[in-house]
Amino acid sequence: MASTKSVCVRAGTPADSAAITGLQEAGFGMRYGSDESEFRGGTFPVERSLVAVEGDRIVGHTVDRTMTITVPGDRTVRACGVSGVAVAPTHRRRGILRELYRAQHARTEADGLPLTVFTASEGTIYGRFGYEVAVLATSIAIDTRRVEFRSTTPDPGGVTLETLADSVARIREIYQRWQTVTAGAQVRPDAEWDLLFADVERHRQGATTLFVLLHADGYALYRRSRRENRDIASVRELRALTCDAHAALWRVLLGLDLVDTVEAEIAEDDPLGYLLTDPRTVRLTHRGDTLWARVMDVPAALTARTYRADLDTVVAVHDPFREAGGNFALRIRDGIAECEPTTRSPILAFDINVLGGLYFGAHRASTFAAAHRITVEDPAALRAFDAAFTTDRAPQLGWAF
Ligand SMILES: CC(C)(COP(=O)(O)OP(=O)(O)OC[C@H]1O[C@@H](n2cnc3c(N)ncnc32)[C@H](O)[C@@H]1OP(=O)(O)O)[C@@H](O)C(=O)NCCC(=O)NCCS
Repeated sequence: MASTKSVCVRAGTPADSAAITGLQEAGFGMRYGSDESEFRGGTFPVERSLVAVEGDRIVGHTVDRTMTITVPGDRTVRACGVSGVAVAPTHRRRGILRELYRAQHARTEADGLPLTVFTASEGTIYGRFGYEVAVLATSIAIDTRRVEFRSTTPDPGGVTLETLADSVARIREIYQRWQTVTAGAQVRPDAEWDLLFADVERHRQGATTLFVLLHADGYALYRRSRRENRDIASVRELRALTCDAHAALWRVLLGLDLVDTVEAEIAEDDPLGYLLTDPRTVRLTHRGDTLWARVMDVPAALTARTYRADLDTVVAVHDPFREAGGNFALRIRDGIAECEPTTRSPILAFDINVLGGLYFGAHRASTFAAAHRITVEDPAALRAFDAAFTTDRAPQLGWAF
């Protein structure tokens, strides 16, 4: 078996595009459709690729783009978003991914970005590189015939059925308002919007093209299909800025005639179950990670978001893969953090992964401590740290990449 010594990592060029596509198709076990070609490369240009090359053959790939992501406190952080990670099946498990990530991290460091994020194919790969699950989502299925709304659930109406072509500007405007107040949600690039509105065949997987429900403060995009003798409405994306928009959209979706099941992915704290007389109607089919995050620069990342309580502490951050760790003094007043390296003794100690997990508010520090992933002697110090990092709302991913 060859080693990584015969492999070098370099930046991608347009001449590499076909080989990169083939590598990704083999890695992910799919084929891009011919109707996607004009969108491919728009969000993640090949010039941002890193390729691992053996001789004249591309055997590994990553690509990135700088993303603007909302953080707790409705501020934003600039992050490196990595995608398209694949190593040839002929070259797996000989350290090519590790080499690509070293190069990827060096590039992110040179770009001065405090955070790296991605969505992961498997949960076992990226912890070793300092990443942690940063945003979770819940997949649900609702048997519409069992749906009954509580008497307290509003019925505000105001929803219209639209065509996708006619809704582009309003959907983009609503998403932009939603994204700026939702931790974990990223600004969506034009190319990504174009891909969504093109509604390509691969995304449909045998279902219809997208139906659009519009409200002044929300929208729902869904498809219809028939599987195992059941008529299904699958919500591709639902964004609601207000409780009224949320209730109005769900009333239409759950009232759809000739539909047995409505499927959707919702935030961890979505109030949907509370609108119904029987909360069991909202059947959880999967709970999983969407965004993973890694802190690249501890002071820059921790001062980008806001906090819920004042804090004076010293944290020891362990980062064996990149050496971005050390001891840091963290002082928070009125939600705003100051953070700098210190020689003072730490009060809490953890791997850098933990900061990625806490960053957008998906997890509690007390839960990491219960799992022995935060070391702290004084329970009051943990309570104070937990109170500062806890957020009002569960984070949500804006668009998958
Ligand atoms: C996942 C993938 C990129 C790994 O590439 P690779 O070059 O084989 O990985 P490496 O040899 O550099 O492995 C680095 C480390 O990760 C581990 N690892 C790699 N892939 C793993 C997996 N799927 N599950 C668990 N561990 C994995 C290796 O065992 C190795 O561990 P160690 O060095 O800490 O002992 C490659 O198998 C692939 O392309 N898979 C299909 C597409 C995919 O899933 N891409 C990832 C998208 S997020």
